[in-house]
Amino acid sequence: MSKISISASISHEQFEHPFINAAGVFDETAKDMDEVLNSEAGGVTTKSATLEPRPGNPLPRYYNTEFGSINSMGLPNQGLEYYLDYIKNSKTNKPIDLSISGTSMEDNLKALKIVQASSFEGLCELNLSCPNVVGKPQIAYDYDAIKETLDAVFSFYTKPLGVKLPPYFDLQQYDAVAKILNQYTLTYINTINSVGNGLIIDPETESVVIKPKGGFGGIGGSYVKPVALANVRAFRQRLKPEIKIIGTGGVNNGLDAFELILCGADLVEVGTALAKEGPQIFERLNNELTQIMKEKGYQNLSDFRGKLKEYQG
Ligand code: DHB
Repeated sequence: MSKISISASISHEQFEHPFINAAGVFDETAKDMDEVLNSEAGGVTTKSATLEPRPGNPLPRYYNTEFGSINSMGLPNQGLEYYLDYIKNSKTNKPIDLSISGTSMEDNLKALKIVQASSFEGLCELNLSCPNVVGKPQIAYDYDAIKETLDAVFSFYTKPLGVKLPPYFDLQQYDAVAKILNQYTLTYINTINSVGNGLIIDPETESVVIKPKGGFGGIGGSYVKPVALANVRAFRQRLKPEIKIIGTGGVNNGLDAFELILCGADLVEVGTALAKEGPQIFERLNNELTQIMKEKGYQNLSDFRGKLKEYQG
């Protein structure tokens, strides 16, 4: 029997393994990103960068529970120049995805103009879904704002671009958003970001568990897996095939990844489980996914990608 491959690609970028870190996890500093790249991750995503460095929200701003996590980080990052320098100086042969998350439309455009003018030719991910900046709504819940942003971006940006989307919860939302996205030469979408503005509380102390925003924050981990599966599936059914999908949300093991790929994910990102377990998780995920494929007789991810069946009654 020939060898099982779990390689994947988006645009011209080849990923020997299909797992990378979700933006915001293990990626704020060069040391973190090096650790991810030195693991069995397929590549690395940078922390979402703003034009200038930011300290982020007050601590504590991240909390793990048995089933997931809550965060209100508030975009702590070293600034765009730091991440561009990191990429320029990196000796890795793995893809590095540059995530951008300005706190205004103007800043997003300025950042992308800098990326356009730079020597960076890799994947860039424009985050339209950060839930944690006080006073700033998630762009991607406002259809006009998505359109306005992408019209402005594609008036000058010609490199491969993806967008990070928040979770949607209604079939009409998928219809509306996919219709907008299909109008652009987008390389990929990444779905889902955390479920924004959830609340985790400690009944013993009768208090919230993180300091910013009165305890409200983005929920990740197992809580959100069915939402991630639905968003990947719903967008795969609606987006033109040229737009690839990074599936993110609730991946703890190879089976979670198998399910996301069955729904249509080209690549899989890991957030909460990576924060809990560290970059050695990637080796486990690669092995578990390979084992599942072996048991099912699949040799490549494309053998089952997007092939989720209707109810078999
Ligand atoms: C942050 C959180 C997000 O979910 C995101 O997409 C970008 C930034 C943060 O709080 O830093």
